[in-house]
Amino acid sequence: MKLQINEKFLEIDAPEDTPLLWILREEAGLTGTKFGCGRALCGACTVHVNGDPKRSCVLAVGDCVGKKITTIEGLPAPDGTLHPVQEAWIAENVPQCGYCQSGQIMSATALLAKRRAPTDAEIDAVMSANICRCGTYPRIRAAIHRAAQTMRDQEQAHETPQVPADSAK
Ligand code: FES
Ligand code: FES
Repeated sequence: MKLQINEKFLEIDAPEDTPLLWILREEAGLTGTKFGCGRALCGACTVHVNGDPKRSCVLAVGDCVGKKITTIEGLPAPDGTLHPVQEAWIAENVPQCGYCQSGQIMSATALLAKRRAPTDAEIDAVMSANICRCGTYPRIRAAIHRAAQTMRDQEQAHETPQVPADSAK
């Protein structure tokens, strides 16, 4: 079967009920997505499928055919520019041990794709489903607010027409 992962196509030969996480790590070599519980409980394995956050440890690869899969490796722009959420994570020094963090970032980017200015309560409701044993939640919340602001600023800059310097003459 053929999978689309981070804008590339990968032909795999595996049973359809193989967890997507196995394919990502073992076949595609994308080890940024982590194995935590293997039972959809911790969120360490979160990736996007057609833009929605999914737990890849319990998602059958056969259900991903014809869909767009994005992992943490696929978040930066093609020129390597980090996603605003990744930038915010660095600016707020979010990770401690780091193990849960790619899952946290994938959940945060999915949240911000739907909510431009999430409240603390909305952030907590979504992000508490991703377990961080190091307790980085206060920094996760700060980073999400920071990234949301950056994304709104970028959107506004994009929407504001640039007036040519000599048009004021
Ligand atoms: S490893 Fe998938 S939810 Fe924990
Ligand atoms: S940073 Fe250690 S588990 Fe989250």
